[in-house]
Amino acid sequence: GAMPFGAATAQDYPDRTVTMVVPFSAGGPTDTVARLIAESMSRSLGQQVIVENVGGAGGTRGAGQVAKATPDGYTVLLHHIGMATAPTLYRKLPYNVLNDFEEVGLVTDVPMTMIAKADLEPTDAAALLAFVKDKKDAVIYGNAGVGSASHLCGMLFMSAVGAQMTTVPYQGTGPAMNDLIGGQIDLMCDQTTNTTGQIKAGKVKAYGVTTKQRLKSLPDLPTFEEGGLPGFEIAVWHGIYAPKGTPKPAIDKLNAALVAALQDPKVIARFADLGTEPVALDRATPEVHRQFLEAEVKKWKPVIQEAGVFAD
Ligand code: MLT
Repeated sequence: GAMPFGAATAQDYPDRTVTMVVPFSAGGPTDTVARLIAESMSRSLGQQVIVENVGGAGGTRGAGQVAKATPDGYTVLLHHIGMATAPTLYRKLPYNVLNDFEEVGLVTDVPMTMIAKADLEPTDAAALLAFVKDKKDAVIYGNAGVGSASHLCGMLFMSAVGAQMTTVPYQGTGPAMNDLIGGQIDLMCDQTTNTTGQIKAGKVKAYGVTTKQRLKSLPDLPTFEEGGLPGFEIAVWHGIYAPKGTPKPAIDKLNAALVAALQDPKVIARFADLGTEPVALDRATPEVHRQFLEAEVKKWKPVIQEAGVFAD
C-alpha cells in the first residue's frame, strides 16, 4: 500500500508537482491571484505548483473536486469568499466546507468594482441605481455562477436597489469580461484583480468600488460610500485549502511557502497594481484561516437568507 506519510516522506515533501485547483476559468481574478502565488510557492517548495482551472457551479465544482482528492499534499484549492457563501446558497453541496478541508492560510482581500459596457447610459452610481430600478430585467448582469463573488456582489446590489436584473452565468469573470467589453452583457461587479486594466484602458465604464476609501490604483473611481450606496462594502478574501487528512508536515510546508509568497516583492508589487495587498502575516496561519472561515459562514447565512437567493 501507499507509504504512510512517515518522517522520511515528510522530509521529502514535496518530491513532485503540486496541483493548485482554481474553481473558475483561466484569465479571471481568482486565476490571477493563484498564478502569482503559485509561481512564488514553486520557488520556495522547489517543485512546480501548477494551476488547474476547474470551473462550474459558482466555484463549487472545483472545490468539490479538491474535497475528494487524495490527502497527500499534492492537491490544493485556492478559493475565495465563495467558500463561506456556498453552504447557504446550495442546499446540496458535493462537500462540507467545515469538515472536508484543511485550511492552509489566507492570501489577500480584493475589492470589487461595478463596471459596465462602455456605452451604458448612466454616467455615475446614482444614475446607475435609477437606471436598474427603471429597467429591471432588461439589464443583463454577468457573473461566474451562484456562489461566485460576482454573484454575491450582484445579489447585494439588487437587494439594495430593489430590482432584479437578468443574470448570465459564466465559468468565470474572465470570459464574462470579454462579453462585457463586446457589449453582449451590460453590467458586472468584479474584482480589481480583473478590472483594473480594463478600467484604465477605458474598455469598460466603472461606477464604484466596494471599499471605504478610494484605491491608490484607481484614484478617480468613487467609492459606493460616496456614490449613493453607503455601506456597500465587499472584500473578496482568498484562502488556500487541502483535502481533510492532509498530513500536518505538508500543511506546514505549504503554509511556509504561502507566507514567503506574501512577502515576495513581485507578488506585493503586482497585487498593488491590481488594487490589493497580501494579508498581514499574523492572519496567514491555518488556525486564523479556520476561525475566519467559520465566522464568515455564520456571517453570510442570514444575509443570503434575507436576499432569498438559493441555487437549488
Ligand atoms: C468570482 O466572480 O467569484 C470570481 O472572481 C470569478 C473568477 O475568478 O473568474
